[in-house]
Parts: sequence; structure tokens; C-alpha cells
Amino acid sequence: MRPGSRGFYRLTRPLVFLLALLPFGFGLAGAFGMAGVDLGPNPVEALLDLAGTWALRLLLLTLAITPLRRWTGWTWLLAYRRMLGLFAFFYLSLHFLVYVGLDRALDLGLVWEDVAERPFVTIGLLALLLLAPLAVTSTRGWMRRLGRRWKRLHRLVYPAAILGVWHTYWQVKLDTLEPTVYAVILAVLLGSRVVNAWRQHRRKVARRSAPSGNAAPAAPPAGH
Ligand code: HEM
Repeated sequence: MRPGSRGFYRLTRPLVFLLALLPFGFGLAGAFGMAGVDLGPNPVEALLDLAGTWALRLLLLTLAITPLRRWTGWTWLLAYRRMLGLFAFFYLSLHFLVYVGLDRALDLGLVWEDVAERPFVTIGLLALLLLAPLAVTSTRGWMRRLGRRWKRLHRLVYPAAILGVWHTYWQVKLDTLEPTVYAVILAVLLGSRVVNAWRQHRRKVARRSAPSGNAAPAAPPAGH
């Protein structure tokens, strides 16, 4: 089966979907004590961490699709970008709901106190607010309606990812290895985009100056 063929997508799309659902299944099994999954002494914190970690991993994976396509030439990777982005938002929403519903027991006063007094929560909320309009406008209908503005709007994913990594880094008390790895991955992905944008800009400038700069040299005077 050739990557990019209809059969390939028909097989791999549901597969990617099921793989992205696995952490959710694990959390659900743990919450209801099924399939021998044990979330440990603090199940609420375990669920919060599980959803937050997968939100971040899937967000980074979504951001990695375009550079990976550029490096490998595998255009078929683009077919999974929207699904992965929506799964990132799904886990982020779960993270938020577990926090408000279970960790803070729906006490909005407590949530507000956290938002006001714990900067890492403020940053997380900001990231969520940036990503929400992207999830809503991820459909083809919105793409068509917004035209060129769609691309501009969806650039919000970069500040959101920076805030997400920062949020994760900030609340870790001891072992900073995992958030450091996320920060390095994000830096590489953002760096590759900056380099690519700069190259495109240089190409555009070169093309604009081509008619005068690349004009054929004048023919030498006759007789020489
Ligand atoms: C893009 C946005 C966000 C990302 C990527 C994210 C990711 C994470 C991650 C990875 C963790 C730690 C997991 C671990 O300990 O291994 C975490 C913890 C946490 N997050 Fe978020 N989060 C985001 C937004 C939010 C929002 C909107 C809130 C609430 C308003 C929130 C509240 C918390 C809390 C309370 C913790 C637990 C801290 C602790 O264990 O003491 N996060 N988040």
C-alpha cells in the first residue's frame, strides 16, 4: 500500500484516532477501577497530569507535522494534522474539567483565586483561551469563511504552545527533565519555522530584484 493512497488513509486514519484515544481509555479505566488500572493514591492529580501531559504531547506533535513534511517530503502527514490538533484540545479540555470539576470541586471562587494567585494557572488558562477559537474554526467551513485570516488566526497556536510549555515547566517541583525535553522540542520546531520563513523571504526578495539583476549582459559592440 502506497503512503498517501486512498487505502492507506482508510487504514491509518482510524488507527491514529484509536491511538490518540488510548490515554483517555487509560484514564477512564483508572477512574472506574477497570482493567486493573490503578491511578495511585491521588487519582484526581493523576488524571489532571495524564490529560495535561497528553494535551502538550499532541500539541507538539501537531506542530511537528509541517516541519516533518518539509524535511522528509512526506506530504501525506498533513492528513493527520487537524485530527491531532483537535485531540490536543480534547485532552486540554479534560485537563481543565478535571481541575475545575474534581480538583476544585466546582468552586469557582477557588478557581478564580488560583487564576489570580498562581501564575502557572494564569498562563495555562491563557493558553486554553488562545486555543479555543482555533478548535472552533478548524472546520473546512470556517476555513472558507475566514479565507486568508484563517491562517493568521491559527498562528495563535505558537504563543499557546509556548505558554503551555511554560505552564508545565513552572509547576514542576523537582524533576525538570520532561518539561525541558518539551521546551527543547518546541524550540527546534519554532526555530525551523523561523528559518523557513526567512528563506522564503529571501527567495521573494531575490525574485523581485531578478529582472534588473539577472538581465542578460548587453551584447558587446560589433567588431569586438
Ligand atoms: C495549553 C495549556 C495547558 C497545558 C499544555 C497543560 C499541561 C499541564 C501539564 C503537562 C501538567 C503537569 C503534568 C505532570 O505533573 O506531569 C499540568 C498540571 C496542571 N495544570 Fe495544566 N496545562 C494547560 C492548561 C491548564 C489550565 C487551563 C489549567 C487550569 C485553569 C491548568 C491547571 C493545572 C494544574 C492545577 C496542574 C497541577 C499542578 C500540580 O500538580 O500541582 N492547566 N498541566
